[in-house]
Amino acid sequence: MLANLFLKDYPAALRRIVAQEPSKLIESEIKLPQITKYLDKRRENAALIEQEILVNQRKKLTETQIHIISSIRKYGYWQGKINNIFDHQEANNLISRCDSAYEFLEQNLSQYDYHQSNTVTLPPHYISRDYQNWIIYQAGLNEKLLQIAHQYIGLPVGYHGAEIRLSRANPDGLDITGPKTPHQDCEEGKKYPLLKAVLYLNNVTQRNGPFTIIKNSQIKPFVGFKGTLILSDTSQNLHHGMPLRDGKRMVLFWTYSSRRPRYPHRCVIWPHSNIAVRKMTKNMSLVQQQAARWREYLPFLLCPVRYYPFPGHNFFLGDRNIMI
Ligand SMILES: [Fe+2]
Repeated sequence: MLANLFLKDYPAALRRIVAQEPSKLIESEIKLPQITKYLDKRRENAALIEQEILVNQRKKLTETQIHIISSIRKYGYWQGKINNIFDHQEANNLISRCDSAYEFLEQNLSQYDYHQSNTVTLPPHYISRDYQNWIIYQAGLNEKLLQIAHQYIGLPVGYHGAEIRLSRANPDGLDITGPKTPHQDCEEGKKYPLLKAVLYLNNVTQRNGPFTIIKNSQIKPFVGFKGTLILSDTSQNLHHGMPLRDGKRMVLFWTYSSRRPRYPHRCVIWPHSNIAVRKMTKNMSLVQQQAARWREYLPFLLCPVRYYPFPGHNFFLGDRNIMI
């Protein structure tokens, strides 16, 4: 039984302790009016200071970037193509590295029984251990994307990394578990903006799980060909991956919050160690490195979970998707 505990149940038990219990504890602390007030005030002050920088940066934006930002502000999303942001070669390289992860994900997915899990996430070490796969992480630090995130969020941007997920339809009825349940991402709470980029790695129709937002009681599923890129505020907008009716869906997510998220203890989904992040960004620009390495500067008391260290986990820790 002891061996079983360590080999099988131990990660789950530890996951519960490190990810959920401190979160609950700290969350109740954060609800103390004095602390809440302090955190909000600190954020508002930081946003005021940032104003001047944002105005200057805005002058350097392209027409496309301006259009994207205003679309996210107005509708809660922007939908376009990978080529609207990335140059041709970079986009091709990224897509081909993502394609090569398909076999690996497919094998992992086939290990599960239906009803147990219909979605697998690419383990972080798949990206970090092979420099050819670094592009999956690095592409999320594309400077045009960071500029958009900066303008939209209004504070220096913290990049949360890349997640590739493969989902399949459940033959015996719709699977509405995990991220397929409508939810709001909670790192910034409902109060402050958060940006998520969603890149389709296969063609996505109404039937194979389109990324969907629900705004003003309107349901907006995003259908699109492989290479479709969607930018959306997943903290302000209720969203989910629509349960698949048939087929499979492979998607890449990049997430951006402010560098001091309102609820740092909820940022437990942190695939790479600080060392891996430094390794993957060492030849990148200062702006990109700062966006990648923000977690090194989080106050430990507010975020005791620095990263989630178990290889092969599926990232879904429950408290990420609580309704707030
Ligand atoms: Fe989400």
